[in-house]
Amino acid sequence: MDSLSVANLIGVKNLNINDIKLIFKTADNFKEVINRPIKKVPSLRDITIANLFFENSTRTKLSFELAEKRLSADIINFSASQSSLKKGESLIDTINNILSMKVDMIVIRHPNAGVPEFISSKVDATIINAGDGAHEHPTQALLDSYSIREALGEIRNKNILIVGDIIHSRVALSNIFALKMQGANVKLCGPNSLMPKYINKLGVEVINNFDDALQWCDVVNMLRIQNERMNKSFFPSLREYVSLYGLNNERLSKLDRDIIIMHPGPINRGVELTSEIADSKNSIILDQVENGVAIRMAVIYLLAKQKFNR
Ligand code: CP
Repeated sequence: MDSLSVANLIGVKNLNINDIKLIFKTADNFKEVINRPIKKVPSLRDITIANLFFENSTRTKLSFELAEKRLSADIINFSASQSSLKKGESLIDTINNILSMKVDMIVIRHPNAGVPEFISSKVDATIINAGDGAHEHPTQALLDSYSIREALGEIRNKNILIVGDIIHSRVALSNIFALKMQGANVKLCGPNSLMPKYINKLGVEVINNFDDALQWCDVVNMLRIQNERMNKSFFPSLREYVSLYGLNNERLSKLDRDIIIMHPGPINRGVELTSEIADSKNSIILDQVENGVAIRMAVIYLLAKQKFNR
C-alpha cells in the first residue's frame, strides 16, 4: 500500500495500522532528507497551504511551517488574534475567504473539539488537525510513536505509561489510539479528578500510584497540567500534585532499569518533571520535536500525493 485510507487527517482514530506504517516509512525518507546539507525537496511545488492557528503554539506551528517549506509548498499563516474574527467574522466565512485565494490544504489548531471535522465536511480543501480542544492531536501522537520506535526498536508489547492531566489532553487520546493500534500496553496514571469518565471504554487501565506505575513501564510520557483549560480546582494544591505525580531523580532511582522519558511540551519544569530529568540522557523530548518535522512532511506529502497526483 502506498496511499493513506483517509483524505484528511482529523484523528488517529480514523487511521489504520497500514496508514501508520506508511507514514513512518515516508518519515524515515524525509528524516534522511532533512539531515542533508540541502534539506528541501520539490514535491509540493505549486501547492498552497494555510496554517490556521486559533490557539497558541510553538512546536506544532513551527514544525508544520518548516515541514511545508522543506516540501517546497507555498504557505500563508493566520493568527486568530490578528484577524477579522475580532471584527465579528464567523469561522466558516473566514475559512471560505481563505480558500477563495486558491488554498489547497488547511492545517488547523482550534480550542474547540470537532472544528477540523466540521470544516472538512464543508470544504474541498485537504484538512489536517493540528490539535482540537481536548479531542485529538494526531501528528503529535504519530511523532511520539515514531520516537518510541526509534528509541526501543519497536512498539509492540512495550509498556507505555501516560501521566497527568488526561482529561484535558488531546495528546493522551491520540496516543492511546496510536499505541494500542500498534500493539503496545498502555496505562494511565494521575488523580481520578484528571481522568475522563469514558476512559474504561478505551481499553486502558488506570493506576493511581505513580511509583507502582513506574515499576511497570518501559516509557513514561509526562503530560502538562493545562491550567488554561481548568475552570475549577482539580487537585488540592500544586505542591501535593508534584509530590504524588512529579517525576524526579529520587523516584527514578528506585527503579532497577532505565526508562524512556517523554513530554509533548511545553514543559512546566518542576511540576510534571524536574529539569534534571527533562535534560537527562534518557529523555527523548527534543528527539520528539526533531521527529515532528519528518512526520509532518510525511503526512502532508501523502495527503497531497493522493489528491494532487504528486
Ligand atoms: N506539543 C505541542 O502541541 O506543543 P505546542 O502547543 O507548542 O504546539
